[in-house]
Order: sequence, then structure tokens, then C-alpha cells
Amino acid sequence: MSALAEFDLVIRGGTVATASDTFRADVGIRDGRIVALAEGLETGGEVIDASGKLVLPGGIEAHCHIEQESGMGLMPADDYRSGSISAAFGGNSCFVPFAGQRRGMTIAETVALYDSRAAPKSVIDYSYHLIVTDPTELALTTELPEAFARGITSFKVFMTYDQAKIDDGQFLDILAVAKAHGALTMVHAENDAMIEWISRRLLDAGHTEPRYHAVSHPALAEEEAIHRAISLARLVDAPLLVVHVSTPGGAKLVRDARRSGAKVFGETCPQYLFLTRDDLDRPGREGAKFICSPPLRDRATQEALWGHVQSGTFSLVSSDHAPYRFDQSGKFHAGPDASFRQIANGMPGIEMRLPLLFSEGVNKGRITLNQFVALSATNAARIYGMYPAKGTIAIGADADIAIWDAGEVRIAGEMHDAMDYNPYLGFEVTGWPVTVLNRGNRIVDGGELCASPGDGRFVVRKPVDLTGMPGHRADELNPEKNFGAKIAP
Ligand code: URP
Ligand code: ZN
Ligand code: ZN
Repeated sequence: MSALAEFDLVIRGGTVATASDTFRADVGIRDGRIVALAEGLETGGEVIDASGKLVLPGGIEAHCHIEQESGMGLMPADDYRSGSISAAFGGNSCFVPFAGQRRGMTIAETVALYDSRAAPKSVIDYSYHLIVTDPTELALTTELPEAFARGITSFKVFMTYDQAKIDDGQFLDILAVAKAHGALTMVHAENDAMIEWISRRLLDAGHTEPRYHAVSHPALAEEEAIHRAISLARLVDAPLLVVHVSTPGGAKLVRDARRSGAKVFGETCPQYLFLTRDDLDRPGREGAKFICSPPLRDRATQEALWGHVQSGTFSLVSSDHAPYRFDQSGKFHAGPDASFRQIANGMPGIEMRLPLLFSEGVNKGRITLNQFVALSATNAARIYGMYPAKGTIAIGADADIAIWDAGEVRIAGEMHDAMDYNPYLGFEVTGWPVTVLNRGNRIVDGGELCASPGDGRFVVRKPVDLTGMPGHRADELNPEKNFGAKIAP
């Protein structure tokens, strides 16, 4: 091979940023992986001119609902084709949607179902977090360990939603099994009884409008549940990730738990940083577009949550893309006059997550470029067992790369998902990904999709990375020595 043919592709002249460093370098790519980082790389292969642009790790979207029946039994608008395409246009080269176990279904059946949904359609690499709604003896002793061995190393539980919630004993069982195998348990933390109790009274009083969704999901419901979830995780010394934290009180619980030695991670989402509960008051039924759980809060909450993004309380800012159209297939599946209790929960955002975070975070000086990289890709790769193959720009890593134009201004409009609305419509957003690569292949370039359904590969994930977590001792990853292994059923 001649020296000039050493690379299949060189990204030339850009500014590379990782979670820790920013530097000028060309990126040499061979067989889908990064093999050189240096100035002046020559090649006989392809060249992408990245001068004046940022060369960042491709985003990893770690919280999205794709082709997954909701707690109300509703299918979202996006399947693995449209969902992955929208993710790619938003600068992501990998995502981890949920594989949701329906009660009565085994874990093995659940995983097989999601394989059949994802493999033929995804244009980007993917894995799943396994939602456990039915922790039977078989699931705990055999099926969760089997899923783990197959590279599905994160399990999610719900403390609310009738069709999904588990009780505290079941939660402990799952935490203990997860701990024994090095898996991470994620939790949707809201106090179910509080929500039910308030909702019943609101409906009895004739309060059915979207705005009452926020009233029925008070901050206290989140804070109580986060406190309980952290306490359960501490009991068995298991790692826990609290998803979509929407309250300053919840964020403080996560922060304080880490400070006092618990292995607790936190995630928030763009909707809690950029939208408020006032959006639920939009005229007509428009407020339904902004119903999600936990609900949107207020301006003061936005500011407080930004503080926690800046200070590192949150390891992840994920979209919680849960796309239900503004029609009878989605939001109004229960009819045009559906009450706030019947309107589908969730909103889209998989394509807007990174541009919003870049524009309002990096360009407005709230976070550094390196923090942006950590929040968009590196932390997810570490926490969810994909690092260093994914989530960074380094020799040997997959060439999952997003090239950004930090100065490009767009007014947010229609996205590439299957939705009929964008909650961020009309937002002025500065900084967009212009070229996205997955394992060295262009998947988006100059506004065009270059990948085909089925190009994405399943990522076999490793155990949760607890490096640097407070209280971490090497022994804790040894299944022979930990408490979870001894009590796991
Ligand atoms: O309202 C939301 N976020 N719906 C999606 C399901 C969930 O709670 O994560
Ligand atoms: Zn949730
Ligand atoms: Zn969610």
C-alpha cells in the first residue's frame, strides 16, 4: 500500500474537540476507525475539508422512545428508520432507545422484538436500555443476566404509570441483579400515588385542560421519588441513573448523593431548560403538544437546572424524544376533548437536542465546548459501556464524528422525524452539524441523507463505568465480593 492510500478518508483542517481538549488536527480514518490525529495528513483517499469547522465526536442520544409502546399502550410516530434519520440530522451517530417489556412478555421475547424493529431500519448504530415491568423469578435469575451477557447493560424501571410501575421490593431486586452484573439501573422517578390523588381531585372539579397536567405532577412527587430511588440504590450499593430530572430539588438530591458516596448519575432534558409550563396554556388545544412527564416547570427552575448542567450534577442532557403527533394517532388518541390525563405523554426533540445545547450552552457561554462534548457523547459512552470505541476522538475509536458549523444560524422549523410539530418552532439556533459520520461512513452531508436503513449496527455494550465515581472501590465490580451477588435471587 502506498503511503498516500494509508487512509480511506481524511478530515482536514478542522478544530477537534474532546471532553478534555481542543486542538487543531486532521483526522485519518481507515476501515471505519480513527487511525491518525496529526497536522498535514496526506491521503490518496477521500478528503473532507473542515476548515473553519469543529470536529466533534458524533452525538450519542441516550434517552429516546422509538417504536416502543408507551405506558398508555400507544406507538410513537417514529420507527427506527425515521427516528434514526432525525437523530443523524441532529448530529448523532449512535442512539440507545428503550426496549420495553410488556407484562406477560419475557425479556428474551422483548429483546427479539426490538432486534426485529431496529436491525432492518436504523441508519445509525444503536443499543437498547431494557425497561423491566415484570421482574419475575425467571427474569431476575436468568433473563436479565442473559440480556446483560448480550451487551444490554442498562435496565430501566418506572415508579409511576399503571402499565409499567414496579414496587420498591421489585426495584430492589432489579438493582441487586444489576449490581451483581455491572449493569446500570435507570429510573423514572415520580410518586405515583401523589399524581393519582391530585389528578382525581382536579378531574372531579372539572379541570381537564392541558395546564392541569403540570399541577398534577408537582415537584414534590419527583423529589420524593428521587429520594426513595437513591435510598434503595444505596441499600444495595448499586449504581443508579435518575433520568429526566426536572426540579432543582431533584438535582440537589442527585448532587448530594454523589457527594456522600453514592453511585448516582443524573440526566436532564432540553425541554426543562428551554420551555416552561406557560406553554401548556397555549390557545386551543396547542398546550397538548407540551405535555410530558415530568412536566415543564418555570423560568426559575430553568436557571437552577442550567446551574446543575454547568457544575456537573448532570452527566447527560438527553432528548427524551417521545413523539406523539398532534392528532388522533398520538396526543388525541382518546378523542379531541381528551383530558390532561388521557393526552399522550411526551414530545419530540431528538434532532434539536444538540443544536439547542450548542446554541444556548456553548455559543452563549454557559458551558465550554468540552463540556458540550462530554454532555453530548462522552459521558453517555462511559456510563453506558461504549467508551472508548464511541464518544471520543482518539486513535482506535470508531470514526463516529460530527462536523459542526458553529456560526450557522437557522430558525427551527420542520425536522426529519415523523412528527407534525416541533416544540421549538421559531427558535433561532446558532451552530449546526453539517456532516455526520458513522464508522467512517457519511450518514448526513450538506443537508442530504447518505445512509440507508439497516446500515446501523447493534453495539455490544460493556458494564457501567464507575471510574471516578465517589465511593468506588475496585472490589465493587467483583461479583464474588459484592453484596448484590449474594442476595440476588
Ligand atoms: O412524557 C414522557 N417523557 N414520555 C415518555 C415516557 C417516559 O416517561 O420516559
Ligand atoms: Zn420517563
Ligand atoms: Zn422517556
